[in-house]
Amino acid sequence: MHQLFRRKPIAALLAEGDHPNGLQRALGAGDLIMLAIGAVIGAGIFGAIGTAAAGQTVDGKVVRSGAGPALVLSFLLLGFACALAALCYAELASMIPQAGSAYAYSYATLGELVAWIIGWDLILEYAVGNVAVAISWGDYFKTLTGGWLHLPPWLTTGYRTALLSSNAEVHGLLAQAPRVAGIPILVNVPAFAIVMLITWLLMLGVRESARANNVMVVVKLLALTLFVVVGISKINPANYHPFMPNGFAGVHHGAAIVFFAYIGFDAISTAAEETKNPQRNLPIGILGGLAICTVIYIIVGAVLTGMVHYTELDPSVHADPLAFALQRVGLGTAGWLVALGAVFSMTAVLLVFQYGQPRIFYAMARDGLLPKFAAKLHGKYHTPYVTTIITGLFVAFWALIGDAGETYDLTNIGTLFAFVLVCIGVLVLRYKDPERPRPFRVPFVWPVCLGGAAACLFVMWGLPRQAWERFGWWLLIGLVVYAGYGYRRSTLRRDVADGTVDGPGL
Ligand code: ALA
Repeated sequence: MHQLFRRKPIAALLAEGDHPNGLQRALGAGDLIMLAIGAVIGAGIFGAIGTAAAGQTVDGKVVRSGAGPALVLSFLLLGFACALAALCYAELASMIPQAGSAYAYSYATLGELVAWIIGWDLILEYAVGNVAVAISWGDYFKTLTGGWLHLPPWLTTGYRTALLSSNAEVHGLLAQAPRVAGIPILVNVPAFAIVMLITWLLMLGVRESARANNVMVVVKLLALTLFVVVGISKINPANYHPFMPNGFAGVHHGAAIVFFAYIGFDAISTAAEETKNPQRNLPIGILGGLAICTVIYIIVGAVLTGMVHYTELDPSVHADPLAFALQRVGLGTAGWLVALGAVFSMTAVLLVFQYGQPRIFYAMARDGLLPKFAAKLHGKYHTPYVTTIITGLFVAFWALIGDAGETYDLTNIGTLFAFVLVCIGVLVLRYKDPERPRPFRVPFVWPVCLGGAAACLFVMWGLPRQAWERFGWWLLIGLVVYAGYGYRRSTLRRDVADGTVDGPGL
């Protein structure tokens, strides 16, 4: 039993990060803020925002109620919850500046079993999250190219999107699509292609990718600024009534889905091993990026729900809410430009998550919890190329046939759960290892950590029952994989057996 809670010594983690054949330290604070914005502003604000405002109905049943114009309150709630979790991330990331994000931190604090659960759980945040982003990318790509590129719908709509849509036209594709062996062929080729392109870019190495990201971040900020500046003059105050059509339940359910828009500020901690002076730069990157994004979201949410009535933002009718709202009020050109910005924004998100996931796999493989071949670095580019390719293929496949809405919930529940464990991890480490230098300390540690864990649990509670069930299955499969592989192969287990490191600490 003790074996399950064996902890990795922090000194060992730090040593791994400084290994001469390890990843290169090339990123500064500015790069990290850009990486954070690159990860955060994407499908959540360009796509999921519509579902959060309007709610969702499947087969005539209300799956979640909409926040309406009170969406701004959902953003405030999320800003609060994420700020607390971000402080916890910042303390751990600055203490343990090593690739692997919450996975590496929890290995040092909560032990191997919890670390494995978090690593497994982070696949939902990174890889599964990117499936949703790629599909939303495809939706805006269609808006953008609608005037001249006419791909048949069966080449731009994934099978599950057609299956689950409450829109008769989209659902009807199941009957109209070409068939092979009786199976309707419904594939999202643009979503697939963008993931493969990003995978190739990441193979070239972090510097090139970070530069490309910086350009995309500037474009996305310009797009949102354009939306706000031109949209503000079209606000009809009547749209703000009723302000809270479904009471606090609407705000809560809205927050639970649009939480997707906040995912990513933690992704930059996966770059810890490639960051110069991580003790200073990581907290600045994480908290700075989060603050900027929260302010932007509140403004965008207020303008959107003022321009069109929230009921018009039904995702099964318009999967591109910001472009749609502009077109609806007669600003077609601005709508097209925002669609262009959305495509850039989501490309940046894809880049950061496709960057993060292989590094989590890399860290897990280095620890023996995944097969060793996954920890191989490219001879020339020093990138974890094996895991980069595996992640690319996994995400591209699901983007080809999957549905965005379905994956938002799964991603959110997994990420929120990881946040809860990180908040608790800070407290455990303060208690277990009080003397270790903490370049960044969470202020008011008890209320912040417990408040952060409680706030994230509360947001999770707003997710539909199906998300909880799927999450339960996901964790169960993860435990089986751990029992069958990682438990036996763990490097730490062997080191403990050799006497190289001390036994279980909890
Ligand atoms: N926060 C990221 C997005 O909204 C995942 O696309």
